[in-house]
Amino acid sequence: MANVVIIGAQWGDEGKGKVVDIYTEHADEVVRFQGGNNAGHTLVVGNEKTVLHLIPSGILHKGKRCVIGNGVVLDPRIFLEEIEGLKSKGYLQDDSQLMVDGAVHLIMPYHVAIDKARENRTSDRKIGTTGRGIGPTYEDKVGRRGIRFADLLKPETFRRRLNEVLPEKNFYLEKYLGQAPLDADEIFAEYQGYAEQLRCYLGNVSTELDAAIKADKNLLFEGAQGSMLDIDHGTYPYVTSSSTISGGACTGSGVGPTRLDQVIGITKAYVTRVGEGPFPTELLDEMGEQLRAAGHEFGATTGRPRRCGWLDIVALREAVRVNGLTGLALTKMDVLNDLETIQVCTAYKYQDQLLEDFPSDLEVLEQCTPVLEEVAGWQQSINEVKDFDQLPQAAIDYVKQIEAWTGVPVVLVSVGPRRDETMLRSNPFA
Ligand code: IMP
Repeated sequence: MANVVIIGAQWGDEGKGKVVDIYTEHADEVVRFQGGNNAGHTLVVGNEKTVLHLIPSGILHKGKRCVIGNGVVLDPRIFLEEIEGLKSKGYLQDDSQLMVDGAVHLIMPYHVAIDKARENRTSDRKIGTTGRGIGPTYEDKVGRRGIRFADLLKPETFRRRLNEVLPEKNFYLEKYLGQAPLDADEIFAEYQGYAEQLRCYLGNVSTELDAAIKADKNLLFEGAQGSMLDIDHGTYPYVTSSSTISGGACTGSGVGPTRLDQVIGITKAYVTRVGEGPFPTELLDEMGEQLRAAGHEFGATTGRPRRCGWLDIVALREAVRVNGLTGLALTKMDVLNDLETIQVCTAYKYQDQLLEDFPSDLEVLEQCTPVLEEVAGWQQSINEVKDFDQLPQAAIDYVKQIEAWTGVPVVLVSVGPRRDETMLRSNPFA
């Protein structure tokens, strides 16, 4: 029995969907513990592509239970659309495959309106959010103004909470953001329409997972976004509003830290970032364009082109530390196939200092330039390679070098989007 947390070790979009999908084979329950439909996992099964934003990708596996823990924020309209989409493709035929904790906070129409209006104001500092209402929903959670999934299922409670909260939201929308106010009756009618369709998914995730652990089942905790977007440990304020690091798996699901066995961090063989914020190894030249094109680096949620850069070992070592990583999953290695040489950032230069640790001060980080080391490329396709030892020597060296720089074993290497384009070097569930 093993309980494994899988998180993004960069700024999100590391290929978590595929890695989680592969590991799900060994898991009995897949748990989401933070974020909302700002996430986007693209999964390729056979030739069919499925994009999931909220529901764990484990749902594509028959008989696996997918649970949405209290740390998640949920937009019921999007959630229902996702359920319907899955059902129409033949997945989720048994509703007991999916569970949502009653303490999950609801994304309300005013959260989305506030998120979008703020991002459109030229006077404000832009974060480059996904515009899904994630930040405003977490603000209300912490401000104790939130409405939760269990409230949605009790019409009187939901109406009372809405009546308490909406006047303040409308005041802010109208007077500060210059937006149209929202109508309580309309929101009530819309959300109560969702309630009956979603009632069957209500559950107590903490007790469910406790029972699963006592029954010697394997749990897989599926992170969303990435370590560098963590509200506490990321590049604040250019972060998302939840705990994306491994610790979030505990607070966001009601499972204690002593129950976790392994933490796998996913990293691309290079780096991407969407949205605003510092990115020391960003390539603003032809090379960046080349990585974007070869890696199809456009957001699964918003379609935005992703910023691309060389692998950043300083940032990766930060992820190793704050997450307590026990293994790395290295993805998109094939994107580097054509390169004669590959650059890797192993330290930052800040004024006349050499920094080996990721600076916590954003203003320092903004002024850091990368110290790059050059390694040899392999200049051939590795997409068909099934066995790590069969990789070209330069590719093996690249992986071993990453292990040496980070002190963490690379347990999985991915060389293409399909399930069979993956080399498993060791199994964290074993
Ligand atoms: P929010 O999560 O929509 O509030 O956006 C905050 C920041 O996190 C922005 O820079 C987004 O681009 C980024 N972000 C949110 N979700 C993801 C994701 O799944 N992948 C990559 N970046 C994300």
